[in-house]
Amino acid sequence: MLEKIQETATFIRNKVNVVPDIAIILGTGLGELVHEISSKTEIPYESIPNFPVSTVEGHSGKLILGKLGDKDVIAMQGRFHYYEGYMMQEVTFPIRVFQALGISYLFVSNAAGGMNGSFDIGDIMLIDDHINLFPEHPLRGKNHKELGTRFPDMSNAYDKELRIMAMQIAKESNIKLQHGVYVGTQGPTFETPAEYNWFRIIGGDAVGMSTVPEVIVANHARMKVLAFSIITDIGIIGKIVEVTHEDVQEAAKIAQPKMAYIMQEVIKRIS
Ligand code: HPA
Repeated sequence: MLEKIQETATFIRNKVNVVPDIAIILGTGLGELVHEISSKTEIPYESIPNFPVSTVEGHSGKLILGKLGDKDVIAMQGRFHYYEGYMMQEVTFPIRVFQALGISYLFVSNAAGGMNGSFDIGDIMLIDDHINLFPEHPLRGKNHKELGTRFPDMSNAYDKELRIMAMQIAKESNIKLQHGVYVGTQGPTFETPAEYNWFRIIGGDAVGMSTVPEVIVANHARMKVLAFSIITDIGIIGKIVEVTHEDVQEAAKIAQPKMAYIMQEVIKRIS
């Protein structure tokens, strides 16, 4: 695995002049931030050695390298979900490649269902913390010391300084920013009412099918993480309505300019 990571990192390094310090994962319906990236180099996933092979025919996504404001970034448009059938090592392989490239900040976005009674569809939730309910752990198995410690600390999994920065930016620009705990589940079903209720009881504010594996590996790699959920549907008994993937995409699309603005401002302010 270590060789594969290095091989892929070398491939990417050879495609660009500057290797960035910041990586961004763009979730469902949240790909538009890439339009803000200038002097772009785009690398389709299928052309990257050792990258997971897409389960969706045609477009599996791409890596985009370029400038966001005055900072060099690498963005993933499209991610690998566990429910698609990938192994956890495949879901998190891009994070290992980012680590090999020397990335120290990871920005993540996703679409999620809201269980907190004060949340509305279209709200942005800053992720304070998570609960990992995936059936498999991305760090299970042999630990490579070169990559990180056997028992990683997760007490600041979503970096506090970055979160404070995001909250300040939202306040300054009058953007409503919720915050809370993200519950990560395997999907691909949305939750039953009883499941949403259970996730609320155990301390969750939002639930989704991604992010947690990548954030665990990023913490193992000692990256600083900032992550946002767009609340695309509501999982509160009495308010639950049928939800489709299209509804999720539509709600994410509406909220994304505000989330993109906060992300961009945080990126501007980190030195
Ligand atoms: N549950 C799980 N994943 C999701 C949801 C949800 O309600 N909405 C968007 N992704």
